[in-house]
Amino acid sequence: MRIILLGAPGAGKGTQAQFLMNTFNIPQISTGDMLRAAISEGTELGKKAKQVMDEGKLVSDDIMIGLVQERVAQSDCKNGFLLDGFPRTIPQADAMHEAGIEIDYVLEFDVPDDVIVERMAGRRVHPGSGRVYHVSYNPPQQEGKDDVTGEDLIVRDDDKEETVRHRLSVYHEQTEPLVSYYQNLAEQGVVNYHKVDGTREVSDISAELKGVLS
Ligand code: AP5
Ligand code: ZN
Repeated sequence: MRIILLGAPGAGKGTQAQFLMNTFNIPQISTGDMLRAAISEGTELGKKAKQVMDEGKLVSDDIMIGLVQERVAQSDCKNGFLLDGFPRTIPQADAMHEAGIEIDYVLEFDVPDDVIVERMAGRRVHPGSGRVYHVSYNPPQQEGKDDVTGEDLIVRDDDKEETVRHRLSVYHEQTEPLVSYYQNLAEQGVVNYHKVDGTREVSDISAELKGVLS
């Protein structure tokens, strides 16, 4: 099963990716996590991406397309994958389809901007695994610690309110056009498209997605 998770920053893509990965046994390909790993390893890619990400802008299409093509060619993706944060522009989507990467499901997460700003303010992440928490809505068992490893949780550098607002405007301008792009492909029978109300409880959304994909 090859799935795209489509939605604004903070819509809950990473949260549901953890559930879907465990439920359907397919890897999560989070381009944001890949870039953050490159930054912490100090690679050339990380050096290029750091400032762009801190400003809430998008890394260039060429870099992202290359990164994803390389990743989906790996053996653990042969039974499917979850794309989380890619494609994010029409050129990224076009390049992916031109490269012959096929998609079975596009899952859109619908969440209003004001809810997102509040979510980001309370987000905590475990950088090693990509697991995501929220201080009120999805708290870890032990404050500030990852449930599985017990390691420290951190606040993402791009979760400052001003940066979040900029990321939302970038989303509306550059990524939201993918909603009609994929709705059109769904009408042609190329992909299945499902929109979820992302403001519901995490567990309710998980149950809905499981039903759609089963
Ligand atoms: P990326 O890491 O992809 O960030 P994003 O798309 O902005 O999305 P987030 O990770 O912020 O949100 P999410 O939807 O995963 O929400 P989450 O589950 O964490 O990208 C970061 C940057 O990298 C970009 O700005 C760009 O610079 C660059 N980049 C990445 N991909 C790129 C690409 N393809 N092209 C160009 N540049 C790229 O949830 C958020 C919070 O809400 C958490 O605290 C969570 O616990 C909570 N929450 C989740 N669900 C619920 C719920 N149902 N109810 C209550 N709280 C909830
Ligand atoms: Zn995420």
